[in-house]
Amino acid sequence: MTGEITTNDRPAGGTNTRPTIAIPGGALRPVRGADQAAIADLLRDPDVRRFMCDDRIVPDKMISAMLRNDALDAQRGLGFWMIEFPAGQGVGLAGMRPLRGAGGNAPYVTGVIEPVIALCPRLWGSGLAATALGALIGHMRDYLKLDRLVAVADRPNVRSHALLRRLGFASAGTTSGLAHELLIHVLDLEGTRE
Ligand SMILES: CC(C)(COP(=O)(O)OP(=O)(O)OC[C@H]1O[C@@H](n2cnc3c(N)ncnc32)[C@H](O)[C@@H]1OP(=O)(O)O)[C@@H](O)C(=O)NCCC(=O)NCCS
Repeated sequence: MTGEITTNDRPAGGTNTRPTIAIPGGALRPVRGADQAAIADLLRDPDVRRFMCDDRIVPDKMISAMLRNDALDAQRGLGFWMIEFPAGQGVGLAGMRPLRGAGGNAPYVTGVIEPVIALCPRLWGSGLAATALGALIGHMRDYLKLDRLVAVADRPNVRSHALLRRLGFASAGTTSGLAHELLIHVLDLEGTRE
């Protein structure tokens, strides 16, 4: 079942670990240090880096910093999961992290949690990104009890806007970014919790 938690590593009385989450045909598996090279390859792909990294080749030291931040975010149950499809084969990255960077400068979005996703381009257009991010959003809503997510994406990143709209995000204005204007999308999770 999509979003089903397949490990039993939730500590009693706490939500500070990240479970593996099943998706049809694969899984979302929390990142670990050994994923560094695979993450570098993904983020340096020309089609992925275009909007995800302002078209820059992310240096190794930034990926190391990202993994150090991830270890901190993991203490809150946040951070990055590898998208495995099929299970065991990493084909992308999906994450939930405290909004940082250009979008985080807008006062009304500071401190909120931002979804992030990158899928290897051969799988774009298959619906896997929507399945993976949808499962992670469900986990944030039902397991971490988050009330709201805020996503920012470069205006020309049309695939990203379409994905967010498909997942129920609503447009919430714009803010300036490093390379492009950023469109802000908001998802109210509290209103959708049963
Ligand atoms: C953003 C990104 C993840 C979107 O991927 P995507 O494959 O377009 O997203 P979806 O999973 O929603 O797939 C949508 C497409 O799959 C199709 N599709 C097929 N089966 C589907 C299904 N069962 N469910 C949903 N969509 C399906 C849709 O019709 C749509 O087709 P289209 O592209 O021809 O319009 C991808 O473009 C990416 O990795 N970009 C680089 C990184 C990036 O910029 N990330 C955003 C900033 S954080």
